[in-house]
Amino acid sequence: MKRIGVLTGGGDCPGLNAVIRGVVKGAVLKRGWEVIGIEDGFDGLLQDGRQRNLTPADVRGILPRGGTILGTSNRGNPFSFPVERQGGVVNQDLSLQVVERIRRLGIDALIVIGGEGSLKIAMELMKKGVPVVGVPKTIDNDLMETDVTFGYNTALETATYALDKLHTTAESHHRIMVMEVMGRYAGWIALESGIAGGADIILIPEIPFRIGTVCDAIRKRSARGSRFSIVVVAEGALPEGGGRVVKVTADATQAVERLGGIGDYVAKELAGCLDMETRVTVLGHLQRGGSPSTFDRCLASRFGVKSIELVEREEFGCMVALRGREIKSVSIEAAISRLKLVDPEGEMVLAAEDLGIMLGR
Ligand code: F6P
Repeated sequence: MKRIGVLTGGGDCPGLNAVIRGVVKGAVLKRGWEVIGIEDGFDGLLQDGRQRNLTPADVRGILPRGGTILGTSNRGNPFSFPVERQGGVVNQDLSLQVVERIRRLGIDALIVIGGEGSLKIAMELMKKGVPVVGVPKTIDNDLMETDVTFGYNTALETATYALDKLHTTAESHHRIMVMEVMGRYAGWIALESGIAGGADIILIPEIPFRIGTVCDAIRKRSARGSRFSIVVVAEGALPEGGGRVVKVTADATQAVERLGGIGDYVAKELAGCLDMETRVTVLGHLQRGGSPSTFDRCLASRFGVKSIELVEREEFGCMVALRGREIKSVSIEAAISRLKLVDPEGEMVLAAEDLGIMLGR
């Protein structure tokens, strides 16, 4: 008999509920163990009363639901937690409280469903004696050691569908339509949705762009009789020699800067050098929301049950991962050692260029 804690950390992502359901089925139904759901990511380990028993009845019907029934947070890092002090906010290390609460709750192992940030916290807890197993989540698909993270496929579907819709207006009005998608450090969503949605220009963080070259590419299209252009830009894309466009800077309460506005920047620059109407669409959190795709439901469910198998085998410090067609166990340390970025000389980029898509270089 074991008692397993499970939490969802970082930004929400389609498929979180499918993982939770897999965890409960694998633990409670298959092994007769107990599952304790922790609310709002690691924040739920900072107070009593924010943990609840999860039964098969609690996970009934949640497979197709977006978001997370447990709630999440992409702010609260217990190792550097923002607390109010004399009118200001300072960061404090509250990790000992967390470790102590996990012990008091009788949790034998903690399953952390999260991206790079949450898995880093998980490893810090592991060093303090908490047995952890990771499940890789992020629509950005930037985690190493797994072919793909769950949630990414759904985000891609959303972005591709949006591009199909933008095409019709672009064509009818002979406009440049710029679509800004998520992708802080990695341009996977922009690149793959751009290829699938027939984009003309794709700008990603891994390839700093030259606006003059982008303008030339659009001029060439016009000369060939194409009177519109579709530009997909990742939020973290940046001009050569310039920086990312930041909406909110990082401070004690905001651990990482909030990006946004590169779409407007690109549109303004294009309007400055081309005589074409330009419009911007920021897809934003539409990419993170809604029902998971078939692929993500299946992957997330397999990740959920596999994470329980890792607990049973006491493979702590490990993460479930998709390798080829199989779910494997990999080291969390390796998964968080660096981000999985698009290779500017890799097959997918070269294929995009062979398709006549311009990547800003
Ligand atoms: O999940 C990662 C991500 O999608 C990034 O691409 C983006 O910068 C971030 O989430 C935005 O998160 P939020 O607006 O919820 O803080």
